[in-house]
Order: sequence, then structure tokens, then C-alpha cells
Amino acid sequence: MVLVVLVFASALSVATFALENGLMRTPPMGWLAWERFRCNTDCDSDPQNCISENLFTDMADRLSEDGWRELGYVYVNIDDCWSSMERDEKGRLQPDPERFPGGIPKLARYMHDRGLKLGIYADIGSVTCEGYPGTPLDKIETDAQTFADWEVDMLKFDGCHSNATEQEQGYPLMSKALKASGRPIGYSCSWPVYQDCLPPKVNYTQLGELCNLWRNYYDIEDSWDSVQGIIDWFFDHQDVLIPVAGPGRWNDPDMLIIGNFGLSMDQSRTQMALWAIMAAPLFMSNDLRTISSGARSILQNKMAISINQDPLGIQGRRIVKEKSGIEVFWRPLSNNASALVFFSRRNDMPYRYQTSLRRLNYTTGIYKIFDVFTEKTMMLKGSTDFVVSVNHTGVVMWYVSVPAELNLGQFY
Ligand SMILES: *[C@@H]1O[C@H](CO)[C@@H](O)[C@H](O)[C@H]1NC(C)=O
Ligand SMILES: *[C@@H]1O[C@H](CO)[C@@H](O)[C@H](O)[C@H]1NC(C)=O
Repeated sequence: MVLVVLVFASALSVATFALENGLMRTPPMGWLAWERFRCNTDCDSDPQNCISENLFTDMADRLSEDGWRELGYVYVNIDDCWSSMERDEKGRLQPDPERFPGGIPKLARYMHDRGLKLGIYADIGSVTCEGYPGTPLDKIETDAQTFADWEVDMLKFDGCHSNATEQEQGYPLMSKALKASGRPIGYSCSWPVYQDCLPPKVNYTQLGELCNLWRNYYDIEDSWDSVQGIIDWFFDHQDVLIPVAGPGRWNDPDMLIIGNFGLSMDQSRTQMALWAIMAAPLFMSNDLRTISSGARSILQNKMAISINQDPLGIQGRRIVKEKSGIEVFWRPLSNNASALVFFSRRNDMPYRYQTSLRRLNYTTGIYKIFDVFTEKTMMLKGSTDFVVSVNHTGVVMWYVSVPAELNLGQFY
């Protein structure tokens, strides 16, 4: 059976070059400040939304009290603009004393007490993207050790204001320094974005050896154009990107912006569905204090999350691109299951797309279909034509499994 062969071939290739820190065997999930809160440091006039201790403890409260943590959303990640403009007298980074009066260790403890994890941000250049102190080559070991001493759990290492030589030396050096720090720290590398995103400049094999995840492409913005641009880029380059992803090393198409202002409900489901197909890290950047129930139910969709978190960790692909504007995406999953997403790029009414599982490369036989967003179940023969109605810029997402009794038949 074609599906099984693919699964084993990819699982074997994973073992050959994984980053050996044992972390992030499934895509990391949590919350990251950047897209929604940016570099707002004005705590005098905007205390609720400025980058401060309070923002992160507020989000931690929401993650732990509103059902997010149990679903896997455990990282609370600081981005740029957290630090003081000066290093301390020992040459270490330090947080802005007014906005983070308790220091980073207190914030880390706050997370750990609630079963959450804390992520922090640094930049390999002379200064960060927003002009805060950078982590040039001669500061890498100091900063890695400082983050470990603070009990931080993850680092996003950005690349603004650095050149190619510094990146070539600095990204591997930070990987080594984090490992040597004595604390398991997940490592997110922004390196590919600063190397035009693709080979030959980017060596994705090397990234898989150094980093747990990497930002391949440009920053997401709060708009459908931005989300669609990211979808286009990742699936246009899927043959480069799919082989390099696997447990412990993930392509990162950037944050989930569901719950903000730029996406309709259909577009929000599209982002959730295709980030699950891509085995993408799921870092929300939104305001969990005020998020709508509609956005929340998309982000908390159990089946979409379980597809994203499938233990095989095989990134999915686009398998059909119709002239009508319908595209079909597929991801192989454990237990002989798979996920299918039907996506419409059209700008009109819901489009009735007709196909069959056989035409989507499934073998003949009977399959159980679970519709991820309507939660309806049906049985479907591989050879039978069916019609899905796909809203414009929306998706229909299916979890496709082999019924249990047939599974038994196969093995006994
Ligand atoms: C990169 O920056 C370093 C300073 O950190 C400088 O010595 C080096 O000449 C630069 N290399 C290039 C290729 O610009
Ligand atoms: C990419 O990195 C890998 C692992 O570090 C290395 O073996 C390989 O030679 C590199 N490829 C190129 C084209 O530099």
C-alpha cells in the first residue's frame, strides 16, 4: 500500500540527522508576543498592551485557566523589546527594569508553577531588529548561560543587523552554547530568512542538525494577503521543505494570527488547517484576554491539533492544484490515517468540488471520514465520487482513517 511505504521511508530518513537535544518531538505550541503586541513599550499610556511582565503573566493565566494548556499550548514567548538598552556590569543582558521589575527568573517561575514554559528572544547582530542590545559572536556563550541560569525553555534567535559570515558562525555557536548550558532549551533559528529562504544559500540539512525550528520565510502580518503569501511560498517549495522536517526539527511558517482583525472565520480555519498539514509550530499571537469564542473554537479544535501533533511528524503536501482554484492538501499520519484539506482560492460562492479518494491517490476500500470543523462522520468507498462544498478562501478538512474492523482484518 502506497501510504505505508511513504510513511516508513520518511520515518527512516528522520533518524539520520535530527538535532540531538531531545526537544520538540512534535511541533511546539504556545503563544508569542510579536505579531499582536510588537514593540509597544509605552506602559504609561497603554499598560494593558505594552511589552511587560504583566502581559506575559496575563497570557499565562489565560493559557492555564481557559483550556489552552491541556491542549498543548504551553510556551509563553517573549519577542523583541524586552531588554534594557544596556548590559549589566558583568556584561549580561538584563530586562528593562520598569517593565520587568521581577526579572526573567520570576517570570520563568510563574510559567513553571502553572505547567507552562518561557521563551525568550535574542538577535545575532550588533543590535536586535528594534535596536536593543544584540548578541554578537563574543556574547553568545554569556547569553546562552544567562538564559539557562534564568531557567528559560526556548530561544528565538533573530538575524537583523548581521552579515552572512556572522550568521555562519553564530547560529552553530549558539546551538553549541545552549547544549553546553546544562538546560534543555528549544532553539528557533531565523537564519533562512536572512539567506533568501532557499538553497543554495540555505542549507536545510545543516539547520536540522542545529535548530529545533527555523523561520523559513518573512514575518506574518495580520492580513489574508500575508497568510496566502505564506501558504503559496511553503507549498510552491514543498519538495525542498518536506524532507527536512521531522521530530525535533520543524519548518516554521510563523505565528497563528487567528483571533486578531485580519482574517474571516473561513480564513481562520484555513490557517489552522494548513498549519496542521505543514506540521507547523503553533504559536498564537493574539489577545487571549479578549479573543472571540469563534476564534477560540478554531484554535482549540482537538482534531486539527492532533493532526498537527501527529507523532510521525511528516510534513504534508499539496497534491492537487485545479484550474478552478481548488487545491487539495494531504498529510500522512500514524495508524494508517491521513488528513485531507480542500481549499478554495476563488472569490465567489461556495464551490462544489467533485472528486474521489481514488483520484487523490488512495487505494480502493472503505474509509472513515471525520470532518474536522463540522465534526460529522461518514463512511466512504475509495472509488465513490463525492462532492465537498468549499467556501471562498476557506477549507474543508478531513481526518481519514481505516475503520477499526478493517484494520483488525489487515493484521490478524
Ligand atoms: C561581517 O561583520 C564583521 C564584524 O562583526 C566584519 O568584521 C566582517 O568584515 C563582515 N563581513 C562581511 C562579509 O561583510
Ligand atoms: C549542508 O550541511 C550538511 C551538514 O552540515 C553538510 O554535510 C553538507 O555538505 C552541506 N551542504 C552543502 C551544499 O554545503
